[in-house]
Amino acid sequence: MNWQDFYDEKKKIINEKINFYLNELEFDGLLKEAMIYSLNAGGKRIRPFLAILTANLLNKNEEIIYPYAVSLEFIHTYSLIHDDLPSMDNDDYRRGIPTSHKRFGEATAVLAGDALLTDAFTLLFKYGNGNLQRGGRFLAGSAGGRGMIYGQILDCNIKEKDRDIKILDNINYYKTGCMLQAAIAGAASFLDAGSEIADILNEYAYNIGLAFQITDDILDITADEKELGKPVGSDAKQNKKTYPVLSGLESAKKSAAGYIEKAKKCLEKINDSVYKKIMMEFSDYIVKRTY
Ligand code: IPE
Ligand code: IPE
Ligand code: MG
Ligand code: MG
Ligand code: MG
Repeated sequence: MNWQDFYDEKKKIINEKINFYLNELEFDGLLKEAMIYSLNAGGKRIRPFLAILTANLLNKNEEIIYPYAVSLEFIHTYSLIHDDLPSMDNDDYRRGIPTSHKRFGEATAVLAGDALLTDAFTLLFKYGNGNLQRGGRFLAGSAGGRGMIYGQILDCNIKEKDRDIKILDNINYYKTGCMLQAAIAGAASFLDAGSEIADILNEYAYNIGLAFQITDDILDITADEKELGKPVGSDAKQNKKTYPVLSGLESAKKSAAGYIEKAKKCLEKINDSVYKKIMMEFSDYIVKRTY
């Protein structure tokens, strides 16, 4: 099977499931409108896709992971809404349309984010059929103050003159890598995978997380704004010293590719299967993508 066909097929399922759970949870009025606005604007759906791919890699019925996969996308979407706020990155476009606060005002954007975060867990605990204790704890930890939010606060508050590659790797791990670990190793925990394979997947996710954020920072300089769906030059506008700024574009690309090589080395320890092959090929897409 071609990895691209598999990805397209799963994206369709993810989009259906997002809307299914939005209806099940009976949101209402302006809040519902704002939640749907950001969720349905598109997005690559990488985190739920990786959770579904992980389920297949582990030989599990992928339907068990759907609620967990949608929870991941709720949390990720909330993180983008808040990341774009004037008090954070102050960006006007996201996923090809005006950001939530531009469209609805700041109060509604903050609250839509709050609901997406909190109700990601309502959804998981109401509809999840896997190991809620292990999976829920992994997901909450990855999103919280010792996970993604920790990365965001470092990113917002570290003085630009103090940034170096090591510090950036640390920020990038927390702000981006943690949610990718939740998508893969967290999904494995939810599916009761053994600790040996979960540890391999956690290390895999760590490495693709670093590569993913370096690529995001490169695209902030090199991408076509229309295709990217968010402003190009946002980091420069804020004088953010990202990887390509500190080490140059070519060297940043090499670093990202290096992390992908490390990630693929982790997967070599897993038994061969069509899903392992798809995960290998998807790893390359993380750095080759143009949006
Ligand atoms: C953007 O994530 C934010 C980062 C963690 C770098 P994505 O590039 O996955 O954004 P969408 O979901 O496709 O919009
Ligand atoms: C933010 O990184 C990662 C999140 C946790 C949302 P960026 O600020 O670089 O993400 P974009 O470029 O706005 O998507
Ligand atoms: Mg940011
Ligand atoms: Mg941003
Ligand atoms: Mg960025």
